Amino acid sequence: MYWKPRPVIVPVSMMRLSPKRTNRNDRLPTRLAVAVVIALCVAILASAVFTYATFLRLRSSYLANRGREISATIEAQARGPGRRNNPAFWQTLLESAYETYSGSVALLALVDHTGNVLASAGDTLRDHGDLYIFEEPLPQPRSPHGEARPTVAGWRIRVGLQLSETDFIKRQATLQLVVSGLAVVALFALSMNLLRMLSRFLELKMREGEEKQLKSLGMMAASLAHEIRNPLGAMKGLTQLAQEDLPPTHSAQPQLKTVVSEAERLEKLVTDLLDFAHAREPQIREFRLSDVIAGITTMVQPRLEASNVALRVSAAYDSPIRSDPDGLKQVLLNTIVNAIEATPPGGTVVLKAFDGNNDDLVVQIDDSGEGLGESSPRELFEPFTTKKARGTGLGLAVSKQIVDRLHGSLELENLPQGGARCSIRLPRLPSGADK
Ligand SMILES: Nc1ncnc2c1ncn2[C@@H]1O[C@H](COP(=O)(O)OP(=O)(O)OP(=O)(O)O)[C@@H](O)[C@H]1O
Ligand SMILES: [Mg+2]
Repeated sequence: MYWKPRPVIVPVSMMRLSPKRTNRNDRLPTRLAVAVVIALCVAILASAVFTYATFLRLRSSYLANRGREISATIEAQARGPGRRNNPAFWQTLLESAYETYSGSVALLALVDHTGNVLASAGDTLRDHGDLYIFEEPLPQPRSPHGEARPTVAGWRIRVGLQLSETDFIKRQATLQLVVSGLAVVALFALSMNLLRMLSRFLELKMREGEEKQLKSLGMMAASLAHEIRNPLGAMKGLTQLAQEDLPPTHSAQPQLKTVVSEAERLEKLVTDLLDFAHAREPQIREFRLSDVIAGITTMVQPRLEASNVALRVSAAYDSPIRSDPDGLKQVLLNTIVNAIEATPPGGTVVLKAFDGNNDDLVVQIDDSGEGLGESSPRELFEPFTTKKARGTGLGLAVSKQIVDRLHGSLELENLPQGGARCSIRLPRLPSGADK
């Protein structure tokens, strides 16, 4: 009787190390705060404009009242027989009134129903653009029997008030508008600054949390590696011995094969975890990319054959480069394995290496698989994100960590003709960067 192993499924979804940084929900409070600040600024501005308009209305009604008051005073002096319809009397009256109100009044006039000036005092030639013109119809005198006397019908007293008299109201209105505008700008700038500081602080806090998690993950991985690796190696070795001892057609062979492959998977999980939690320092030296690619091609050969996928290195890049060859090897291995796993049987994975625009080295790995689907590349770089039943979801996270440490970039994108492209960019390091 042989022990029948059950497949070990790592609860990948439960192992998510940290919430996704770009989650739309994470940004919601910040967006809400920005919306509140903008609404507040708009409300303050609207209220300032409303107050400005009220000040201007107040100015107009002040001028109208002043004009009414002056014309009423003049009209009261023009009562009496032989006065009201006598332009000569009006002339004297207007001149004396002009003397009284000089300063605030620039023009006084009596006009008939057609607009003809019958009498006037003050600056009649002046452009009326800087005056507030108020006109009040002259009340028609009545006979002792109460009938209106038509003699002065349509006559009006015209009062031209200096607009400068109400400059203080306009100044007040403009001042409050400017102060409110400045307050809005200051409030907006201050709020944006505070929000930026807050989100920076939250990001730092999150990173701190991530680092703590990584540290404890590292300790856990180290003790796991210590506790698991040796017994696992022994289990695997003994199982392989049993496989060799038994005839290939023995009924236990499939179970033994499963034990070996599960042990290898656990070994990979422990190694990936260790790589991720204990990011190694890059070892910079000069090397040839073609040597690294040759090594990887040998390593992935069995996988290529098993999946019936071809690997084509489209351009040999032979100039020596300075970077971390072991780190780059791991990144290339992880991404090429991903490309092989994505490619259907009979397909080809194409690797290209060339100089980038910023004098950096670019390596592109194109496959003819299904592409990234709905997932965003950023999401796929998160640790423990996998769509594979037997994946750990650490390949891209480890690769990103290595490339980041080399100040490069790792990108994943869909190809227009189908399939995905993984681009690795590494800056050329100066010779002094050797370690
Ligand atoms: N070339 C690709 N085409 C399509 N999907 C890809 C490609 N490369 C990566 N992915 C997606 O990104 C996910 C994460 O990849 P990653 O290498 O981090 O983990 P994994 O391959 O699932 O597991 P492992 O840790 O064993 O590598 C994959 O599960 C896959 O869904
Ligand atoms: Mg992978």
